[in-house]
Amino acid sequence: MTRRKRTSMIVLLAVVALLIIAGVAWAAGVFPDVLDGGAHTAAIEWAAENDIVQGYGNGYFGPYDNILRGQAATMFKNYDAYLKSTAEGTSTCSDCHNDTTLLTGKATAWGMSLHGTGTAFDYAGGRAACAGCHSGGAFSAMVAAGQNPDEVTAGDPNPTRQDCRACHEIHVTFTGADWALETTAPVEFYAIPGTTFDGGAGNLCATCHQPRGAFPAAVDGMVKVTSTRFGPHHGPQSAILRGTGGATTGTPMVHYTMVSDTCVTCHMGSGANHTFNPNIATCKTCHGTATNFNIGDTQTEVQALLDALEAKLLAANMLTADGYAVVGTYTAAKAGALWNWRTISIEDKSLGVHNPAYTKALLNAGLAAFAG
Ligand code: HEC
Ligand code: HEC
Ligand code: HEC
Ligand code: HEC
Ligand code: HEC
Ligand code: HEC
Repeated sequence: MTRRKRTSMIVLLAVVALLIIAGVAWAAGVFPDVLDGGAHTAAIEWAAENDIVQGYGNGYFGPYDNILRGQAATMFKNYDAYLKSTAEGTSTCSDCHNDTTLLTGKATAWGMSLHGTGTAFDYAGGRAACAGCHSGGAFSAMVAAGQNPDEVTAGDPNPTRQDCRACHEIHVTFTGADWALETTAPVEFYAIPGTTFDGGAGNLCATCHQPRGAFPAAVDGMVKVTSTRFGPHHGPQSAILRGTGGATTGTPMVHYTMVSDTCVTCHMGSGANHTFNPNIATCKTCHGTATNFNIGDTQTEVQALLDALEAKLLAANMLTADGYAVVGTYTAAKAGALWNWRTISIEDKSLGVHNPAYTKALLNAGLAAFAG
């Protein structure tokens, strides 16, 4: 134990001792003889949850009882184990497996996310073309082999979700270093050669959340739409931030250049929130007065552009009511309109937040294709 930790321990034990002497009424949360709402209930419950105090074998805490020297020594030791478990030098199995902030807390949040509940990992089963992004295990193997998703040569017979092991180096050193991310290497978009996404820790996300296809080159001014799923596939968010992925190219957004860890900063926040839902507190660091994501009414405006373009595409018989493309050969401008609508509406899904100017430019170009 360092001196600083020893000092904190002495303070903690002094508090426990004071509680015992003071003999306040206790809460019935963890121990039946520790009553709800007492001044020190939270401290006792915290110490119990972190295995620093255990109470008696019969389930009681004994708030009025004297403390023995041996019990005090045990509390010191337990507190030291607790400190070690929260620090980088984590070294025993139970340090992680009993810990509520490191493992179960994150697992609960993850369990509410689509990474934790979705069933899209099933696509990785028989199909090499899907495995690298859809199975956590195949993703780890792909990263270790330095491959792109289109270089994976086999499906994963036992596909797993995008779980702790997909993103972290679990059970490599059996220390706190295992929380390191599996990759933070810049991502050169394999579908858009020559364009690299370099967004700090967000590079982990971009390895999967990148386009699988680019807008096809026109032949004599015409573009063939060969699939009802015409578009970049479901995770083009990194490309949109970077100002690409639509039918035409734009410029990177300040959200790409100024938000240091891009996806991770906005979607996880300073507390590493594992629901992966965007975090309004992050927005406020730059947009001080923001109360929702619809800053400057951008999302309202983008939704209106989407609605207008959808009406044009439906009227032209290029889009079905449930958002699929109608296969056919169209002018490059109209095929671009279809690509852009599907990219923003169905695939990016941020309603312009990822790259407001680029998003509006893509949708306006789409509307222009139907003008006059
Ligand atoms: C740095 C934290 C950490 C340490 C240290 C650690 N584990 Fe784990 N362990 C994890 C995580 C994270 C998982 C995955 C949990 C999940 O997917 O829900 C896991 C999963 C497991 C599983 C479930 C089966 C599996 O492999 O997914 C077992 C068994 C296991 N660990 C045993 C151990 C043993 C034994 C030790 C000590 C030698 C140990 N762990 C040390 C973090 C750790
Ligand atoms: C989709 C990727 C992803 C998944 C899945 C994931 N994490 Fe994380 N986790 C991250 C990122 C990104 C960070 C932030 C780390 C950073 O910025 O360096 C993080 C941070 C953490 C931290 C804090 C580490 C530290 O340095 O203090 C813990 C603990 C953690 N994750 C545990 C888990 C556990 C347990 C699971 C499984 C239930 C899990 N994570 C699943 C991406 C993920
Ligand atoms: C191993 C590939 C992979 C990595 C790495 C990854 N994701 Fe995902 N992500 C997916 C897949 C696949 C889905 C869809 C899961 C499903 O439907 O079963 C998804 C879903 C999501 C969703 C939910 C989308 C919705 O429609 O509601 C969000 C948000 C998300 N990811 C954000 C992130 C962030 C942020 C990171 C980085 C910290 C990240 N992802 C890293 C593959 C990945
Ligand atoms: C480059 C990585 C990557 C590859 C390769 C990939 N996907 Fe995906 N896929 C994703 C990501 C990321 C998401 C989640 C995007 C989101 O929700 O925004 C996703 C989502 C999906 C969804 C929607 C999930 C749902 O539950 O609605 C389907 C369906 C899907 N993928 C099918 C496939 C199939 C089939 C293949 C193989 C032919 C494949 N994907 C290959 C990255 C990939
Ligand atoms: C400037 C902050 C910011 C950055 C950077 C950012 N996002 Fe987002 N993202 C958002 C917001 C805000 C939304 C829209 C949330 C809403 O309106 O519900 C969103 C939406 C999404 C969605 C759709 C979620 C859903 O529930 O439909 C996915 C998936 C996603 N982002 C993934 C990513 C990935 C992957 C990256 C990095 C390549 C990234 N985001 C970077 C803020 C950000
Ligand atoms: C690192 C600083 C930073 C963070 C964090 C950040 N933004 Fe921004 N954002 C900016 C800057 C700078 C602009 C450009 C302002 C301008 O051009 O007038 C901008 C512009 C926008 C716009 C366009 C606004 C308009 O009036 O045209 C929207 C929408 C937006 N941000 C949403 C978000 C959301 C939602 C989040 C959080 C999930 C977020 N931003 C986080 C810096 C940031």
